[in-house]
Amino acid sequence: MQYSAKVMDHFTNPRNVGEIEGASGVGTVGNAKCGDIMRVYLDIDDNGIIKDVKFKTFGCGAAVATSSMATELIKGKSIDEALKLTNKSVMEALDGLPTVKVHCSVLAEEAVRAALWDYAEKKGIKIEGLEKPVEDLEDSHHEDLHTED
Ligand code: FES
Repeated sequence: MQYSAKVMDHFTNPRNVGEIEGASGVGTVGNAKCGDIMRVYLDIDDNGIIKDVKFKTFGCGAAVATSSMATELIKGKSIDEALKLTNKSVMEALDGLPTVKVHCSVLAEEAVRAALWDYAEKKGIKIEGLEKPVEDLEDSHHEDLHTED
């Protein structure tokens, strides 16, 4: 299995690790097949800008690298921009992932969306284009997506 230099960099030196106390939104997702879990914390200001984002990942190296990259990609962005984050954009930013590790990037995408969902629920608002997150992604509709490399 070959990992890109960027994956190795984000795995050995992950960005935005930690928690945010009193976060605007927290999302936790897991994949029962591999047993990996990801949690994303968002600090969103009154203008809907993601001022800060942190993550904790109890999972494989690719899960660490994809959460690290996902948090980097949405930091300082608006909610709408964060909604555009896909596992594909995370993988592209990391110069690809081995096929058997694609589901790790799906976990990163879904953890961000779960945190946005939590934020919307806490605020009592609806975010257009955001669906209720699934807790276990093992059989999710994403499973067969984006396996180009
Ligand atoms: Fe499951 Fe990486 S092996 S998240």
